[in-house]
Amino acid sequence: MSDQEPSPAVSISHLPRHVGRSVTLRGWVTHLRSSGKVRFLVLRDGSGLAQAVLVKGQVPEADFAAFDRLTLESSLVLEGLVRAEPRAPGGFEVQVTALTPVHLAQDYPIAPKEHGVGFLMDHRHLWLRSPRQQAILKVRDEISRACRDFFHARDFILIDTPILTPAACEGTTTLFETDYLGRGKAYLSQSGQLYLEAAAMALGRVYCFGPTFRAEKSKTRRHLMEFWMVEAEAAFFTLDDVMALAEDLVRTLVSRVLERQQPALAALERDTGPLEAVLAGPFPRLSYGEVLERLKDAGAELAWGEDLGGDEETLVSKMFDRPLLVHRYPLSCKAFYMEADPADPRLALCVDLLAPEGYGEIVGGSQRVADLDVLLGRIKDHNLPQEPFEWYLDLRRYGSAPHGGFGLGLERVVAWLCGLHHVREAIPFPRLLDRLYP
Ligand code: 4AD
Ligand code: MG
Repeated sequence: MSDQEPSPAVSISHLPRHVGRSVTLRGWVTHLRSSGKVRFLVLRDGSGLAQAVLVKGQVPEADFAAFDRLTLESSLVLEGLVRAEPRAPGGFEVQVTALTPVHLAQDYPIAPKEHGVGFLMDHRHLWLRSPRQQAILKVRDEISRACRDFFHARDFILIDTPILTPAACEGTTTLFETDYLGRGKAYLSQSGQLYLEAAAMALGRVYCFGPTFRAEKSKTRRHLMEFWMVEAEAAFFTLDDVMALAEDLVRTLVSRVLERQQPALAALERDTGPLEAVLAGPFPRLSYGEVLERLKDAGAELAWGEDLGGDEETLVSKMFDRPLLVHRYPLSCKAFYMEADPADPRLALCVDLLAPEGYGEIVGGSQRVADLDVLLGRIKDHNLPQEPFEWYLDLRRYGSAPHGGFGLGLERVVAWLCGLHHVREAIPFPRLLDRLYP
């Protein structure tokens, strides 16, 4: 074969187009097996798995000998003829005509046996190569793209909001603080919302999608220190508009993943029944007051004014097989920027969207305070300094308008749709209370 042109390099996922032809594949070894004069390996290139077969006498002697030096996770280039082979992983087999190791891997630390989570997290940079982690990352990519497509299709303009900010958006207890080159304190953004509000007054409908930071001092399966949030904001939106848009987005994400990520869901052994059920009808809407009644009936009484914790969220969301919209929480347990309900000023015009199957809150949103004096009062009540918010107050000085929006936590949605126990697997390199490595 050496006197011929090299075969085209293709990715394993494209092998169906090359049956009967010679191709070049590049990737990593995931399985090795020998039997007499025949050698088998399974190659992974990120797009899929392919079985490769070498027969003594049909490849150069040096290439055949090279096979016997291969170790798991060694990188290599091979050339060969593509055949459909239903029994092979991935459904195709390549009859190798040339094999060149690129790098022989040292003893690979991750074996097929069970490892503890701590060990796997310490080796997160290698763990990403496992079929399960690849499947999760593909679902995450699908959801990210679906979010962008969703907003683009509805004429929302992408606005990139800053990471370094002079003020808190979601309360001062979860701020990551840094020194801004001797000019005072800066905080890592907890949310792009306040900046989106400014952009909404310029462009009408806007969204942002980026990393956000919360110094969460609690260790739960739903909390990360750094997570990705997609946030929408629109001028003249009421709470009802916010709820309708959030429901539309969540429904779109579920149907997109079901439509395009069946192989990943199968690799994750995700039961898709509960996801199909989400699409069966409108999401139920309950007020905070109605939720308290449901909790009471279930023997989990909560005093009026208390926020719903993870346990309460799980309990109430398990009463439905679809996501639940919980609206009008007490103003006292919510952020400073939320508009009060004119029908009952103790309540905020806000909504949390709770995922089914016990995944809890995935979306938080509200209508925002539109009046300057009300907002000034809130900033005081929340013991926030006024000066860093002057620009935000300006939005209520120059053509204020009702407006609202929401934020959806990407990792929580990934965890839910993939059926993960913990959000730490939903992001490539999780930042947790006790983990900054790798
Ligand atoms: O409910 P939150 O705090 O709302 C906001 O930040 C608003 N400013 C959003 C807006 O109206 N523009 O956060 C929104 C979502 C939550 O519902 C949750 O999905 C996710 O962000 N989230 C987290 N995800 C992982 N780890 C954490 N520590 C999270 N905190 C919030
Ligand atoms: Mg919230």
